[in-house]
Amino acid sequence: MHVRPRRLRRTGPIREMVRESTLSVKDLIYPLFVKPGSGVRDPIPSLPGQYQFSTDSLVEEVRDIRSKGIPSVILFGLPDKKDPTGSRSYASDGVVQRAVSAIKENLPEIVVITDVCLCEYTDHGHCGIIKDGNVDNDATLEILAKQAVSHARAGADFVAPSDMMDGRVAAIRIDLDNNGFQEVGIISYAVKYASSFYGPFREAADCAPQFGDRAGYQMDPANAREAIKETILDMEEGADIIMVKPALPYLDIIRRVREESLLPVAAYNVSGEYAMIKAAHEKGWIDGTKVMLESLISIKRAGADLIMTYFAKEAADLLT
Ligand code: PBG
Repeated sequence: MHVRPRRLRRTGPIREMVRESTLSVKDLIYPLFVKPGSGVRDPIPSLPGQYQFSTDSLVEEVRDIRSKGIPSVILFGLPDKKDPTGSRSYASDGVVQRAVSAIKENLPEIVVITDVCLCEYTDHGHCGIIKDGNVDNDATLEILAKQAVSHARAGADFVAPSDMMDGRVAAIRIDLDNNGFQEVGIISYAVKYASSFYGPFREAADCAPQFGDRAGYQMDPANAREAIKETILDMEEGADIIMVKPALPYLDIIRRVREESLLPVAAYNVSGEYAMIKAAHEKGWIDGTKVMLESLISIKRAGADLIMTYFAKEAADLLT
């Protein structure tokens, strides 16, 4: 036998030399939930180890995140009140807007991304404005663009539209530019599936749809070609980074998007992926830490450059 692949697996240092993918703390983006109040750090039952923060506690949390070497956070807001059009989503004194300013004032070097979507701000829980029982695409674009501009005005480095309306990247790009925010980037959730893996997040962000589901705007889990179509459209509309979401059930999609796009690719290791590992670990059925690291490296191997993950802090402690 001339060829023995095991020679390259013989010792740890040899394995390290020939390792094809790497996971670095610099790849990680940490999702955070912000709500009104002060001194708030409410545990999220469906996401053990994750919290809803008021702005002041959030700044302390971001300081800790930064000290671990994690370069970036993405913010989700729980507004003081909801209405049919999600008007608190673009208020200059809204939860996310205030949180962004506070973070940038105290920790200017952390890269701040904001989620742009209406589901947390509408009383019906859909990601856009409802007309005749349906989410109205074009009426929603205006509000999304306003929300994006208000986040930029507060100091966001990137806005990340997660609503899946057609044409939102172009609409947001135009309004950002018209308001002098040419430098603010767009991380597009270009390929976002209508996934049941978002369950724990909907509890954390209080954004479950009050009727129907999101299948009329988020993608069908059975489709792969369509992911490329969405990627190409968002590239043409001016997205700076393309995101695939969820991550683990869609590694094939991450790979295809990586091959079709010249842009950096981000993957969102979503709430359900996190919660399942935590739950199985609690039951003693798996080693949660090892499964976490294996999951994250799989997402890198599939082709992601960046990973949004609730595991960011835990992973950072092991990587640095
Ligand atoms: C919607 C949004 C969702 C997530 C991120 N942005 C939920 C949804 O589309 O229903 C899910 C993230 C996760 O599950 O961790 N604005």
